[in-house]
Amino acid sequence: MNILVVGGGGREHALCWAINKSPKCSKLFCAPGNAGIAEVADCVNISGEDVAGLVNFAKEHAIELVIVGPEAPLVLGLVDALEAEGIKAFGPSAAAAELEGSKAFMKDLFAKYNIPTAAYGRFTDYDQAVAYVQEQGAPIVVKASGLAAGKGVILAASEAEAVDALDQMMNNKSFGDAGEEVVIEEFLDGEEASFFALVDGKTALPLISAQDHKAAYDGDKGPNTGGMGAYSPAPVVTDALAQEIMATIIQPTIDGMAAEGCPYKGVLFAGLMIKDGKAKTLEFNVRFGDPECQVLMARLSSDIVEALDAAAMGKLDEIEMTWLDDAAMVVVMAAEGYPGSYEKGSEIKNLSAANAVDGVTVLHAGTKAEDGKILASGGRVLGVTALGRDVAEAQAKAYQAVDCIDWPQGFCRRDIGWRAINRNA
Ligand code: AMP
Ligand code: GLY
Repeated sequence: MNILVVGGGGREHALCWAINKSPKCSKLFCAPGNAGIAEVADCVNISGEDVAGLVNFAKEHAIELVIVGPEAPLVLGLVDALEAEGIKAFGPSAAAAELEGSKAFMKDLFAKYNIPTAAYGRFTDYDQAVAYVQEQGAPIVVKASGLAAGKGVILAASEAEAVDALDQMMNNKSFGDAGEEVVIEEFLDGEEASFFALVDGKTALPLISAQDHKAAYDGDKGPNTGGMGAYSPAPVVTDALAQEIMATIIQPTIDGMAAEGCPYKGVLFAGLMIKDGKAKTLEFNVRFGDPECQVLMARLSSDIVEALDAAAMGKLDEIEMTWLDDAAMVVVMAAEGYPGSYEKGSEIKNLSAANAVDGVTVLHAGTKAEDGKILASGGRVLGVTALGRDVAEAQAKAYQAVDCIDWPQGFCRRDIGWRAINRNA
């Protein structure tokens, strides 16, 4: 079948890399893609947010399955627009994508269907929000309700810090419309993990566990990023806990979404906080995690196209997915300055030496090819992905490959996987 992947980051490179191995894929396109994706797919210069352009392209090229990577096109209704033209798509409708598009919608769903999460209030009135903070005390978490590119969450250590965040969001509109409504919630401590399930409207198929590192610098210090690295499996998610997460979080959400009249289809990504063997939901995303997707695709041993196609068609009950016993790790290399401002256009050399390390695939996140050179074109630029017998071996191989890469303007964390490795030591 002819397949179109939408997006151009490391997650989409991982998806294209896996899809390209499937005998079910005859022609693979990616919009807009990047220099690494161009090695496994035909990249087309259409933005992920150009819904009409993508629908036209899919019609003109007889695309039979569209796989949407990032959340923005989903919230804009890309899947609805494709399905209206009779084109099959993997991903939720705009109504179902509100699970990520609106934290207020998500929290109300949790409350209505008894899904474990942090206690919360939602506010459009500044004075009421301030009163709630004063009543609850600190530490407390302030979140812009709308999409804010992962930056709209303030973990406030004091009441003054929380009130200042409310002032920024609600009065100064520092996140634009996303901050018109805020969610204020209880601060949860514990260990975070990412849990993914494929969903076809009614059936959910869990994927293997993963953990990412959101902080920019070693020791989980520094500003939050989209993710500086990830690994799988995540030892904190035991088999028993995974079953409980399916029963108390994932299935009730899917049943609740169906009951609300917006059945969920695509991949459901729960960000969890785990403490004393119990999970609470921090958030839902309506897409694969980036960089978690890179380690999931590295470990997948069955056909990804078969699974995503079955999710799009409501036939997940016919699918079994299989995984390698090996562990996987991805180390993100980012441009110096990320997640703040950074330069684009520096040259990256010696990628072939990194790719030659046993078990390693260098996935591209923000690159472009120009005159035979690979240039950095984003904040997160590469995802050096490695398999090993355990997380420690995957880590050793990933850093061996990182050390082959000649890119003075880039940096990476040196401690990806420390939690899993310490636990197993
Ligand atoms: P979110 O976008 O809602 O997942 O929040 C981003 C990050 O903020 C999460 O990955 C957590 O590290 C942290 N966070 C969010 N909500 C809470 C909470 N209620 N308690 C503690 N940390 C949180
Ligand atoms: N790595 C976390 C995310 O994709 O949101």
